Amino acid sequence: MIHRLSLRERPRRNRKSAAIRSAVCETSLGPERLLLPLFVHEGDAPVPIGSMPGCARHSRASLLQEVERAWAVGVRMVALFPAIADALKDPRGTGSYDPDGLVPRTIAALKERWPELVIVTDVALDPYSSDGHDGIVAPDGRILNDETIEVLCKQALCQARAGADVVAPSDMMDGRVGAIRDALDDEGFTEVSILAYTAKYASAFYGPFREALDSAPKSGDKKTYQMDPANAREALREASLDEAEGADMLMVKPAGPYLDVIAALREHSVLPIAAYQVSGEYAMLKAAAERGWLDERKVVLESLMAIRRAGADVILTYYARQAGAWLVGSG
Ligand code: PBG
Repeated sequence: MIHRLSLRERPRRNRKSAAIRSAVCETSLGPERLLLPLFVHEGDAPVPIGSMPGCARHSRASLLQEVERAWAVGVRMVALFPAIADALKDPRGTGSYDPDGLVPRTIAALKERWPELVIVTDVALDPYSSDGHDGIVAPDGRILNDETIEVLCKQALCQARAGADVVAPSDMMDGRVGAIRDALDDEGFTEVSILAYTAKYASAFYGPFREALDSAPKSGDKKTYQMDPANAREALREASLDEAEGADMLMVKPAGPYLDVIAALREHSVLPIAAYQVSGEYAMLKAAAERGWLDERKVVLESLMAIRRAGADVILTYYARQAGAWLVGSG
């Protein structure tokens, strides 16, 4: 005879059928939560990115095609990252606020076609800096905080004038959220939101992104402005500051390896939380999937669900279009 354990509590009862499982499901994931980062360049043809199969530096035409496909599966938010020719880079990143630059022109083209599309622009100097840093580099190698913020404000204003809905400072300078808020408000852009890269870590998971934009630092690293991966309490300090300075949303980046930080921010703040599944996370999933070592669809959706469960409202992911298609059953 089978010995029956006298268990009053049997959690498996709530898993016994698909109907019960979906009735008690705690976390949902839909395309409306996903934000698609896109690389753009001046060329007439898209250029594939070696370490990010399926991603490219988009031409105008291929960008519109990609957004069309994302829009069709319910993705309503994109973030733009420009690859700038070396000849247009300088130590102060002045190309970042050129009103005829690649980003303002791209915003205009997207807005013309999809007025409802939420366009997020990155505020940082690295794509425009001949030094490959997010801020201005002093002769002794230090990254100059307050001088950088002056340029970041010009960049954010330039993006707002071009029609950006959300500006997202990813530079990690101190005080930039407040300064950008004031600069926007002074020019009447009170409706432009700020998505703050609040807890952005000095992570090796950004490697493929820097290849995509050819934006790696020429010397040194980003450890004097991006956070130490060992620190979580410090993320709460950054969150308090960004909130006080007027951020509309807080971001944690990378996402998967930093779920504890997402959960901590969720607990600490009433603001919406975003998380960025970065280029290296994408590359890992892709590489294993391409070798047949992981089931791509299942593992990607699981990784995104985990980020949602940790507390993220919005997820930036290079899988946004594909995941959107899977989620609405058209992929
Ligand atoms: C730079 C920026 C980076 C990313 C977004 N904005 C790279 C960096 O800080 O070096 C990384 C995104 C990714 O890896 O997908 N301002």
